[in-house]
Amino acid sequence: MRVIRGRVFFRGRLEALSLGISEDGKIAAVKKALRGDEEVDHGDALILPGCVDLHVHMRDPGLTQKEDLPSGTRSAAIGGVTTIAEMPNTVPPVTSQTLYERKVETFRGRSAIDYVLYAAPKSEDAITRLREAAAFKAYMAESTGALQIGPKELQGILRGAAVTGKLIVVHAEDPRQFTKVKVNGLEDHSTARPKAAESSALRWLASNRGKAKVHIAHVTCVEALDAVPSGATCEVTPHHLFLDTSSTLGARGKVNPPLRSPADREALWDAFRSGRIDAIASDHAPHTLDEKSVPVDEAPAGLPGVATSFPLLMRRTRAGEIGLESLVGATASRPAEILGIPKGVIELGRDADLIVVDPRAAQRVRAKRLRYKCGWTPFEDMEACFPHTVYLRGDPVIDDGEPAAEGQGRLLATR
Ligand code: NCD
Ligand code: ZN
Repeated sequence: MRVIRGRVFFRGRLEALSLGISEDGKIAAVKKALRGDEEVDHGDALILPGCVDLHVHMRDPGLTQKEDLPSGTRSAAIGGVTTIAEMPNTVPPVTSQTLYERKVETFRGRSAIDYVLYAAPKSEDAITRLREAAAFKAYMAESTGALQIGPKELQGILRGAAVTGKLIVVHAEDPRQFTKVKVNGLEDHSTARPKAAESSALRWLASNRGKAKVHIAHVTCVEALDAVPSGATCEVTPHHLFLDTSSTLGARGKVNPPLRSPADREALWDAFRSGRIDAIASDHAPHTLDEKSVPVDEAPAGLPGVATSFPLLMRRTRAGEIGLESLVGATASRPAEILGIPKGVIELGRDADLIVVDPRAAQRVRAKRLRYKCGWTPFEDMEACFPHTVYLRGDPVIDDGEPAAEGQGRLLATR
């Protein structure tokens, strides 16, 4: 049995413990002291559950100039992510059972970490035929990929989702609230797709949700948080917590829904600290530097973030701005619960998906270290705390900060 030692986040607090890992990569023992044929002692480094990022765009198949599976999942692991849920706006988009099966084939043997795949049905009929999809995505407004649906279709999909009991993640912006302004900068983009568009879409959802299990993607502001339908869960992205319209990123900072004002960003942190945010999800949506090297109004929306999400937040945790429990809750246990997968917690019988991090080892974000295919990050130079070892089912995928295994990820079914 392999034994991994360190200061383990177990039952809601840190404790010096040994984890015994079984042949099949599960946590088989949690003890003060354990003997094994292979023992790895991480000293006083923290051992936390691997992160579950429930919103990423790995661009594979069809958009692999931006990102691809080997590269994107390697970057995810560098940032401490051991499970991703992959969005359906690849090319072709995952709108049917056949295309879902094709996406499963694309992933087979090429992902460094475990994964859940979303489908984007465009009708009630399509959702009932998507038997194998683990969860769904619905776009109420246009973004990368032509997957936007109208209120009639969405009502049908919500009915279908309620019948299947599966999760439906909603990109909630109401296009009727969009304004026609000349977009020269990030503030204009935020005016063009205002906060009111989020609140309005969420109010519509509150009255049309029925019994569907709904999760709201990338909420950008407190006004939207206030409008999240009761019983629904929500996520916030690191870019809405760490960047705002005062940024000098230009087209690279263009994302949907848009970055908001510095005051909105501060209020979002307060909401996070008071426990109002279920999950942190990166919405990793890379575009190439070439694609972003155009005026803001012509640039595609989206930015990369899967490798910096946990490290940026770990740094803030170390600085005392958020509690370790909130960090682990928002990056691992809650997203796993929302998806309905047995991940995100260190306990007997669970997969040994673990990150080992020394909270004192802060370093500046450098694009090169993240190894994104797109080669850039909007968080360049910010202080972060990267894991030095990451285990997937007990085997290192990152060792001493370097990728150590590829292609070992598995497709996960949801409850
Ligand atoms: C996403 C993308 O590029 O795939 N872009 C974005 O701005 N978030 C699409 C999306 O999730 O809206
Ligand atoms: Zn997205």
